Amino acid sequence: MIIDGDDDRDGDGDARPTVIVVTPNPAVDVTYGVDRQLIGETVRVRRADRRAGGKGVNVARVLTALGVPAVTVQPVGGAIGALFAAALDADGIASVSVPIDGETRMTVTVDDRDAHPTVLAEPGPALQKAEWAAVTRAVEQTATRAAWVVIAGSFPPGITPSQLEGMIAAVRRAGARLLIDTHGPFLSVAAQAEVDVVKANESEAIDATGGADGDDAAARLGAAGSAVLLSRGARGAGLRRPDGDWLRRPAVPGVSGNPTGAGDAATAGFIAALLADRGEAEALEWAVACGAAAVRGATGAEFDLDFLRDLIVLPT
Ligand SMILES: Nc1ncnc2c1ncn2[C@@H]1O[C@H](COP(=O)(O)OP(=O)(O)OP(=O)(O)O)[C@@H](O)[C@H]1O
Ligand SMILES: [Mg+2]
Repeated sequence: MIIDGDDDRDGDGDARPTVIVVTPNPAVDVTYGVDRQLIGETVRVRRADRRAGGKGVNVARVLTALGVPAVTVQPVGGAIGALFAAALDADGIASVSVPIDGETRMTVTVDDRDAHPTVLAEPGPALQKAEWAAVTRAVEQTATRAAWVVIAGSFPPGITPSQLEGMIAAVRRAGARLLIDTHGPFLSVAAQAEVDVVKANESEAIDATGGADGDDAAARLGAAGSAVLLSRGARGAGLRRPDGDWLRRPAVPGVSGNPTGAGDAATAGFIAALLADRGEAEALEWAVACGAAAVRGATGAEFDLDFLRDLIVLPT
């Protein structure tokens, strides 16, 4: 168990041990292992893996592996939604599923363990206003007992950045800290709302801000006062603090595998370290180590815990 103490920021004696991880647009992730990726050909599948996915779920999976109590919150609907909920349960991940009329989506990843995997991602069901309001209420209710909320991934079709503002306000009312990992106008809204931490990879940061490079983009994302966790794939990661100072960390060398989900693992490692009172520099180290452990995992959602234990000292 990593969390050994309480996060009692407001000093009212309330323990806030849990991380709430919101996946606005969850999916059943199917990964097909193939010998080669071939466009326009019939490709024989060597291994098939089906599991509950979406970026928030990946974050929760790594937090759970690290011994950090995490609860996922997501809209879920239809037969694929039932499969999603059952798969989450089977993996021992605590969750709050908000029922919706639409059908939960699937993604298909074609992975040859060599080239970057090909990912086919369905858009997901549109949510009615009342359904989004129900998800927001579930986030607020669960967040009242949480130290951190993570909102990760894309948003369902039809949901606007201003509706994300409503969810950010709900987390604030609940009194939890907030990390958001998303892209485009939603990332900009998160940064403007001055959430505690904005997580982005370099291209997401540049796309959202028009910055000249990763550093410039992170400076723009952090201008309103958020810390920016900027991941750079095989070039490591940086943390731009609200005062404009940078902490930087190179990637773990000699790591190869599937990079999908490395950013989600990095987010989980970062939060886990902060919850263990490790400070920002060590949180960045844990982020980089967890990213590498995810690259070593067999699929985008798997995580090499033994490899991680060789990189950082986890509390027993
Ligand atoms: N090839 C690699 N070798 C070693 N470490 C890696 C490699 N790729 C990623 N990492 C680690 O994982 C972290 C996150 O990776 P990356 O920047 O690719 O995230 P991302 O693009 O947000 O990924 P995703 O959104 O798919 O989870 C990096 O900062 C780095 O420390
Ligand atoms: Mg990412």
